[in-house]
Amino acid sequence: MPQAVKLAGRASLLARCLSELGQAPAQAIEAPKTLAQAIEAPKTLAQMPGPGALSFFYDLFCRRGLSRLHELQMEGKAKYGPVWKASFGPILTVHVADPGLIEQVLRQEGKHPVRSDLSSWKDYRESRGHAYGLLTAEGEEWQKTRSILAKHMLKPKEVESYAGALNSVVGDLVRRLELRRQRHERHVVTDVAGEFYKFGLEGISSVLFDSRIGCLEAEVPEETETFIRSINTMFVMTLLTMAMPKALHRLFPKPWKTFCEAWDYMFAFAKKHIDRRLAEVAVQVARGQPVEGKFLTYYLAKEQLSMKEIYGNVTELLLAGIDTISSTLSWSLYELARHPEVQAAVHAEISAAVQDGAIPSASDVARMPLLKAVVKEALRLYPVIPGNARVIPDRDIQVGEYIIPKKTLITLCHYATSRDERFFPEPNAFRPERWLQRDAARHPYASLPFGFGKRSCVGRRIAELEVHLALAQILTHFDVRPEPADCPVKPMTRTLLVPEKDINLQFLSR
Ligand code: HEM
Repeated sequence: MPQAVKLAGRASLLARCLSELGQAPAQAIEAPKTLAQAIEAPKTLAQMPGPGALSFFYDLFCRRGLSRLHELQMEGKAKYGPVWKASFGPILTVHVADPGLIEQVLRQEGKHPVRSDLSSWKDYRESRGHAYGLLTAEGEEWQKTRSILAKHMLKPKEVESYAGALNSVVGDLVRRLELRRQRHERHVVTDVAGEFYKFGLEGISSVLFDSRIGCLEAEVPEETETFIRSINTMFVMTLLTMAMPKALHRLFPKPWKTFCEAWDYMFAFAKKHIDRRLAEVAVQVARGQPVEGKFLTYYLAKEQLSMKEIYGNVTELLLAGIDTISSTLSWSLYELARHPEVQAAVHAEISAAVQDGAIPSASDVARMPLLKAVVKEALRLYPVIPGNARVIPDRDIQVGEYIIPKKTLITLCHYATSRDERFFPEPNAFRPERWLQRDAARHPYASLPFGFGKRSCVGRRIAELEVHLALAQILTHFDVRPEPADCPVKPMTRTLLVPEKDINLQFLSR
């Protein structure tokens, strides 16, 4: 190794040690002198650009930053480059907004990847003595649950077996949309995301419990509305409770209290449905009858998980399967309504793949590349999780020119990379056909709506099946138009990326 590089390496290591001891490295050691040193020496966190704590705080709380976190990614990247640091309340986080650098982070994530170890979600579970589910568990505990769930949720054959139950929920969704559109003189359904929330909850319940909970009936049960409201509240409060130093919880108890109450309701709701369904199974078993139907809660119960672990996991699966589905369906349909030529092509594709009058099946969907591309493109423009995270708990890693110390929260700026014109020409345009062509310029880490690797979305295959089946049936029945025609809806961050205002669409009968 050239002497200059060795020296630079040592200088950077020394700089890091000193900076961890609280000394400014620039003052503590001499700056590298040769060009080779300047190029090769990894930089420290102290040398990383980024807004001061006060200016980020101002952005967050005075410029509606909490709901604009996705836009702050674009602003940060334009101002500081692909890597910068910012303090999110008490948490220092390094933002990474380049696909190549995101790849570097993810390839170093280790055996048991950690998404974020600072989550207020974990604090809530600790305070109530609840078990962690797959979203929040770490280490060996996470690995054990992940292996169990992956067996039932990621194998294509297993997933396809949910298609019948999901299609019956889709049928109810179409009937409900029909009812709603008939109530309006111009066949407008206002706030379609609200309908898709109910669909998401009914869909994931059919997968988890193989039973219907009435979300899509004419009269929606009050507990369903409260459950959906609790999820909304919990997501709004997540960012606030994380940005607020714990010491402030006593001074301003409302956000933490509201956050905990929302979780309490969600855990109680899940427990009620799990207990009811497992009691039914116990009766069947006691009578010597076969347990019919296919539902995930039953498989979990057979897998030697404790009841506490089942409650923790099912609550998190319920939660994970609602907003994600609603948001993806809402944006896909919103863009299709605004692009009638694409909608017509997708409709033609569906008609060619499905026999007259039949309900599109999982194998029919396999013959609908454009429909799938529509969903990919919607998730590129509106990634449900606009900024994912990783923490490398046990070692420092190098990302680009920086050494990131272990335990640092690294924010992966997926919103910024998936609208980067170097990888997606006309990045703000809805162009699903881009996914039908091989594009050498596209980086595989530029759009990662389901995350990456061992810790990626375990519900991905179920989610894709559900969204594809729903879109195929909706487009078979309706020609969907924007209402009003020229009223764009922007996304906003509420932990997840959701529509900033109601999406209203006109549903015309085909
Ligand atoms: C279009 C819909 C969905 C999107 C875009 C989505 C996206 C994501 C993303 C980005 C992650 C984080 C991955 C990572 O950190 O690398 C994730 C994790 C997860 N998702 Fe999804 N998701 C969707 C639907 C679902 C559904 C329907 C379920 C449940 C049936 C689900 C269950 C989960 C769970 C349990 C995790 C945590 C996995 C782990 O930590 O091992 N998701 N999802």
